[in-house]
Amino acid sequence: MNQNAYDTMRQPHASEKRNVPPTNTDPNTSTQQIIDRHDRAMSINYGRYPVAMIRGQGSTLYDADDKPYLDLFAGFGACVLGHCHRDLVNAVNEQAQKLWHVGNLFHTEPQTRAAEAISRFGFAGRSFFCHSGADANVAALKLARLHGQQNKGNTTAGRYKVVSTLGSFHGRTFGAMEATGQPKVYEGFGPLGPGHVHVTFNDISAIESAIDDETVAVLVEPIQGEGGVNVPDDSYLADLRELCNQRDLLLIFDEVWTGVGHTGEYFGYQHWNVTPDVMTLAKGVGGGLPVGVTHVSPKFAELFDWRTHGHAVHATTLGGNCLAMAVTATIFDVLHRDQLVQRAKKLGTQITDRLNAFANNNPIIKTVRGKGLYLGIELNLQAANKYTTGGDIVKACMDRGVLINAVQGNVLRIAPALVIKDDEINRGLDVLEEVLSE
Ligand SMILES: Cc1ncc(COP(=O)(O)O)c(C=O)c1O
Repeated sequence: MNQNAYDTMRQPHASEKRNVPPTNTDPNTSTQQIIDRHDRAMSINYGRYPVAMIRGQGSTLYDADDKPYLDLFAGFGACVLGHCHRDLVNAVNEQAQKLWHVGNLFHTEPQTRAAEAISRFGFAGRSFFCHSGADANVAALKLARLHGQQNKGNTTAGRYKVVSTLGSFHGRTFGAMEATGQPKVYEGFGPLGPGHVHVTFNDISAIESAIDDETVAVLVEPIQGEGGVNVPDDSYLADLRELCNQRDLLLIFDEVWTGVGHTGEYFGYQHWNVTPDVMTLAKGVGGGLPVGVTHVSPKFAELFDWRTHGHAVHATTLGGNCLAMAVTATIFDVLHRDQLVQRAKKLGTQITDRLNAFANNNPIIKTVRGKGLYLGIELNLQAANKYTTGGDIVKACMDRGVLINAVQGNVLRIAPALVIKDDEINRGLDVLEEVLSE
């Protein structure tokens, strides 16, 4: 067809008639233009700051007006190697020229390489790849149901209940949402799926009393994240392990926040040397790409084995796609090569010591908790002069070019990239302490 015939045939697309801006954003577009276009085109699910980020390098982000920000939260901890890390950019570029995606009817080497890394730095097991923390938890919950069907215990229909903890966060899909111990996450979405029981975190007897004949699994975060960076007592996870062994329950650790180095161990459970049956990962395991992982110990992995069932019992089209997996595998290579997990532990101690020293003279800080480079600073807002919420403090820091986060109204969170430089950390803490002193 010649060009004229093509032009005559071609009907204008609806977007052209309505004069909608092109999708290839001009990098010089101003913040206000980006916000105005967002407000017309986007679902307003998020309360966003009036800032549009357009590029990042290491621990620095730049907005559309080229203002730099020191990033102490690294995209909810996902950018473990910071922004646009050279090795990850190279891994994506190389893989992008070879193969993006074929689907899981074929073997692809990057996927296997990523799974091998998780077993090497974590526990021996088998990885199922998906796209998010919620996805990974749903896979874990489905695995638990299979276990409950095959090991019915005293029930006739099979065991299906899962005990999780109040204040937990496991995601927003059906299944993950019901497992989450925060009503604001599931209210309004009823009827909710059955079988979810929430008990107080860090209380082994609460879990014990919640278990009945129909219980099949216990799901906890080794350190509660969205609940306020709550670190359990040293015996908690070990006691859970023992309880689950005694009652034939799957012990599932949601390591979406604590996985992949941030806490100063490759995985959170390693702080207590308590290995779960299932570990779920997201955030850091994708380095900023959408990757979720359900990593299952050999004892339970065959529950997902298609050969046991004669067909696939759990699957997803794009899970484990080559681009994402090249990044995941490279993240572990870089963490290991550059000893970044050990560094996270050391830096975490330095930061905690400095903030504790500050807290001695500034009652606005109640406690500093967490591990490695995943830290929560609980505030005593009664002692504050200028600010009334954690969110106000986050905004004051942002105005001064430093990004942190707040949860539960009164807990500040920092989770910088593991590549952050010492002077960057010090500069960030200078700003934070300045704001907290006001
Ligand atoms: C511990 C934990 N689990 C699961 C999720 C859900 O992950 P995603 O947002 O990738 O679905 C989150 C998200 O913050 C989380 O913190």
